[in-house]
Amino acid sequence: MIQFIDLAAQQECIRDRIQSRMNGVLSHGQYIMGPEVCELEEQLASYVCTKHCVTCSSGTDALLMVLMAYGVEPGDAILTTPFTFIATVEVIQLLGARPIFVDIDPRTFNLDPGKLDRAIRKVQNGNQFKTKGILPVDLFGLPANYSEIKANAEEYGLWVLEDGAQSFGGSINGRKACSFGNAAATSFFPAKPLGCYGDGGAIFTNDDSLADIVTSIRMHGKGENKYDNVRIGLNGRLDTLQAAVLLEKLMIIDEEREKKNIVADRYEELLHGVIVTPFIPEGFMSAWAYYSVLAESEQQRDQVMRRLNERGIPTVVYYPNPLHLQTVSSHLGYKLGDFPLAEDISRRVLSLPMHAYLDDEDLVRITDVVKEII
Ligand SMILES: Cc1ncc(COP(=O)(O)O)c(C=O)c1O
Repeated sequence: MIQFIDLAAQQECIRDRIQSRMNGVLSHGQYIMGPEVCELEEQLASYVCTKHCVTCSSGTDALLMVLMAYGVEPGDAILTTPFTFIATVEVIQLLGARPIFVDIDPRTFNLDPGKLDRAIRKVQNGNQFKTKGILPVDLFGLPANYSEIKANAEEYGLWVLEDGAQSFGGSINGRKACSFGNAAATSFFPAKPLGCYGDGGAIFTNDDSLADIVTSIRMHGKGENKYDNVRIGLNGRLDTLQAAVLLEKLMIIDEEREKKNIVADRYEELLHGVIVTPFIPEGFMSAWAYYSVLAESEQQRDQVMRRLNERGIPTVVYYPNPLHLQTVSSHLGYKLGDFPLAEDISRRVLSLPMHAYLDDEDLVRITDVVKEII
């Protein structure tokens, strides 16, 4: 049976290594902040090429802790995309700040930097909120357009926090995702490009002071030690057992991404001219968290999904409702029509199975069903 993401096939390849790593933790018994956590942080920082990596309890907490470290508070505005998972925007609102949505590029599905300037000026002219930063998302594994986003950020003195929950292992011109902002957050949710067997996340930065503050926030705002508390923090640590799993999974991430690149190329070959396949700009590499295609209409998308599901092929819509139209956002005053590109894409997008263990027979089977409908 074709899996949407095949964690069982992955586990089969590295099960002995993972078990041996986990046995190591059971032997030393340091379940909280054991030596594997520090080893993992060193390896992750070296992989991404940032000075610091601070692991934590989830991708959501990684975002939240950076915003806390930047002192985000009521009255602040953060620019972000309406076409993402709720966590990106939830953390802004948890701190009482205001998400300001900016519509997306219809080809990459990422925040359109060409629309940032106008959005920033609108907030400035409104005189109600103070713009503090930009929170772009590397959707479906493709890094956002950081050269243009950072040019805007510099012009207005804003920080950039990269939501790299889906893009770990992706890159732009050889530079790894999670290294583009002043800070980045990623998620180790099991289905992510680098996933553990539970919840987990990490923060990346070259900023020494930011790294110190998030390290303190991660452990109840500790100062000299756990019982010297200098700021409001969280219980935001990554479990040692999850670090042990991640150390083994990190060893195969590049090999898996290469295999996913081959899958994506084959999908492209088989679906070219049938449905809109993912657009990867020159020099960019996706981590292929999802393989998302665009149907002509909502009706066609639903037909394709129904037929695939009838044939036992799983599909998912990421994301059926842009965030400005979610019930939880109703107090922000946005309405249908405010972000037409995000709204249009959310009606037509669907994600097909994508993982390193799909073979050619699977891909022909999947794409034959798509061709049958279109
Ligand atoms: C874009 C994005 N941001 C943030 C998160 C939050 O990560 P986590 O589930 O680890 O809290 C996710 C996870 O689904 C995500 O896809």
